Amino acid sequence: MSSLLFQGGTIVAGDRTTKDDILLRDGAIEEIDRFVEEYDAVDDISGKWVFPGLADCHVHFREPGFPEKETMKSGALAARAGGVTLCCDMPNTDPPTVTTEAFADKVRRAQSVTDGALRFFFGVREAAHLEELAHLLADDTKEGRHLRAHLCGVKIYLDHSTGNQRVDPALLDAVFAFCAAHELTLVAHCEDPEINAQSALQNTRMNIAAHSLIRPSYSEMSAIKTVLALAKTHGTHLHIAHLSTEGGVGLIRAAKAEGIAVTCEVATHHLFLSTDDYERLGALIKVNPPIRSPKHRTALWQGIKDGVIDCIVTDHAPHTLAEKNVAEPLQAPGGIPGVETMLPLLLSVAAGKWPHPAEPHVSCPPFTYEDIVRLCVVNPNRIFHLGVSEIEEDKAVDLVIVDPAKQWTIRGAELRTQCGWTPYEGWMVQGKVERVIRRKEDVGRRTKD
Ligand code: NCD
Ligand code: ZN
Repeated sequence: MSSLLFQGGTIVAGDRTTKDDILLRDGAIEEIDRFVEEYDAVDDISGKWVFPGLADCHVHFREPGFPEKETMKSGALAARAGGVTLCCDMPNTDPPTVTTEAFADKVRRAQSVTDGALRFFFGVREAAHLEELAHLLADDTKEGRHLRAHLCGVKIYLDHSTGNQRVDPALLDAVFAFCAAHELTLVAHCEDPEINAQSALQNTRMNIAAHSLIRPSYSEMSAIKTVLALAKTHGTHLHIAHLSTEGGVGLIRAAKAEGIAVTCEVATHHLFLSTDDYERLGALIKVNPPIRSPKHRTALWQGIKDGVIDCIVTDHAPHTLAEKNVAEPLQAPGGIPGVETMLPLLLSVAAGKWPHPAEPHVSCPPFTYEDIVRLCVVNPNRIFHLGVSEIEEDKAVDLVIVDPAKQWTIRGAELRTQCGWTPYEGWMVQGKVERVIRRKEDVGRRTKD
């Protein structure tokens, strides 16, 4: 088999960067060294940075059900263009991924996707869905093992969001006990349905900013308290989805200190946007949980810095522009695309450039290139057993070659996402994905199988 040397680049790991050459043979990394002497072909990447392919453990690729918004193929293509080569897809498709049949259908569809690897969450709303999942876990055939290799965890919604997948509150104990018994990571979308319903009743405002009041910050905190108590009782590995509030960061910080098995993620839109953006972007940035005030955003960056926040995700949730541009903005669907823009935005911050065009006064939060690998590769892999890794010898790793100095402007029309728009239209970012080299795909990884 012939070998290819990537020469002169800087390799980014979760705890350091090193100037080393990378020798690839047969889709795997044979050697990493300052000077590799023997190779068949060479590619000079001087001045470029090499990241491992990122893992985004929260996307909505809309297949089956809504191909006009995204498909697995268009989603994976967009992800790859943004340096993301593994995506964990959420269950609120149509049909929702709450049966073995629906799960198997997604795995079958994913076979023809070549731009990235896909894993799937199993959704649970009612007791029958847990029974379906129990069957999937007990299936000891080759097919059963193949399906399980694509399972990354269980997802519950404490309140309705797009797709109306709210879990029956009477089932919560059973879900937590089930996931603990089967060592499955349980992801929770944390918003309190009663608080949200009350706030909606009290709301008199019609403008889009009211969305952040209808689903207030204390709703997230209340739901987080509920699930933390359940995780503590049952010993479940709980993962809080798209954390959006200062109070939420505080609750998780305290829970971790207490030894509760909790991890959490933050979505890029909560790191880069704030309620100040409603005036400019309207329903485009309607999302659940909602965009918060700058104070919360600052707390999320602090949570990244001090290690409370484990992962950065996109919560890539594309809707068509027509759906977003309805006459009554509060009726627009919640969800923001982002799988292609996460890495450029993060690279900008790592380069010390806050990319928000309307916020020249905001100083850049402390954040490094190594943080990107820690929060988008190392930690997602540890939490969801994804079979990805940093750039290491004898590993098959996707390589993302980045020009860290390249400045460019994000344009929705140039992105690969099927929905064709971005809330970051016109943002000048620093750091561009130049090339993505895919490893040989293998799915044989969940260590506990
Ligand atoms: C998501 C979607 O559109 O699928 N929307 C969102 O506002 N985040 C659903 C979800 O994850 O809540
Ligand atoms: Zn989501």
